Amino acid sequence: MNRTEVQSSIAPGTEGIQAHCQRVATWVRELAGALGLSASEAALVEQAARYHHPGIEAEAEPVRRLLEVFWKRQPIADAAEARLVAALEICDDFDQHFEAEALSPSQVDETTMNYVQLSSRADVNRGIDRIPVFPRAAQEIVLRVTNPEVRIGELVQVASLDPVLAGLLVQAANSSYYGRGTPVATIQHAISHIGFDATRKILLGATFRPIYSSPLLHSIWNHSLDVAQAAETLARRSSLAVDPAEAFLGGLVHDVGRVAFAIMPRAFLERLRRLVDGGCALVQSEVCLSGLSHAEVGAETLTQWKFTDAMVDAVLWHHRPERSARALPSLLYLAEFMAGSQEDLPSSVRLKTACGHAGVKAEALSETNEKGREALQGLRFAA
Ligand SMILES: [Fe+2]
Ligand SMILES: [Fe+2]
Ligand SMILES: [Fe+2]
Repeated sequence: MNRTEVQSSIAPGTEGIQAHCQRVATWVRELAGALGLSASEAALVEQAARYHHPGIEAEAEPVRRLLEVFWKRQPIADAAEARLVAALEICDDFDQHFEAEALSPSQVDETTMNYVQLSSRADVNRGIDRIPVFPRAAQEIVLRVTNPEVRIGELVQVASLDPVLAGLLVQAANSSYYGRGTPVATIQHAISHIGFDATRKILLGATFRPIYSSPLLHSIWNHSLDVAQAAETLARRSSLAVDPAEAFLGGLVHDVGRVAFAIMPRAFLERLRRLVDGGCALVQSEVCLSGLSHAEVGAETLTQWKFTDAMVDAVLWHHRPERSARALPSLLYLAEFMAGSQEDLPSSVRLKTACGHAGVKAEALSETNEKGREALQGLRFAA
């Protein structure tokens, strides 16, 4: 798509345009150094970014002049001005790439990426290497619990292997939601009390929870539980044959790539925070800083953990579901939406496409499953 086509694809309405202008201004501020701008030049281009779509009038004369040139209504006066216009174009193109991606999949232009990428992939790979290894015993539990043929006796056996798993089941059975009458004390009793599906979900959740035990990761884990629950509910509503247990597992691990980003060096995290606070989406900010998003990093992590191709694919495309023909990436995208995730720019086009791919009606997106949420309460970290 050319610039004019992309401009018209930006989320319609003043709000969408203003959010885009705000983000472009944030890119300019963050990338000023890489773009070779002095502090005063950066301030001028940042101002121009706020008004770079016709309809919002800038007052200061130097800003208006720069915009006239940017809009090609005036010729470029000199090399210094050409540099300022180019800086604005690079930041505008970078943001528009994300706005337009749902309509027309494309890679970020390499020249743009050379300017915007502030960290190297090697730094992210070091982050991936620091994600805790997924233990063999845990892999075994995932295999057994997600097996569609699994029987209740096997769940009892799995829970008996680890006092933490047993404790969580008993705790759930005695929770205010399930607990009625005589207190539950044994695994068998707990499983028959909370039911087969809730037991599977608690066992799976308890297997992944230790990866998120650092306080830095607690909110990502709580969000993962919400997405897992939403994905499972959607799988049950889907007109396609999507296994609810697989959808739940997908939700639990969908943001595992954020773990690698969360343990990046402090300077990286400060830049990431500045971009997000400046209105940029998490996915965009990650790509800006490292060239990779948490979806790509998560897929790499799951490959190392020997997850199935289908699960790696689901995590890889959970923010770009139109890129996969499978239903699971779309289901995770919709579950992110239901959990109120703001990791990416909102896109009604993508939402519609994902509903189609996942075999889910739009009405299902507002249905919640309180019973399911309650069963997972014991797995959450205190906010
Ligand atoms: Fe723009
Ligand atoms: Fe997420
Ligand atoms: Fe995500």
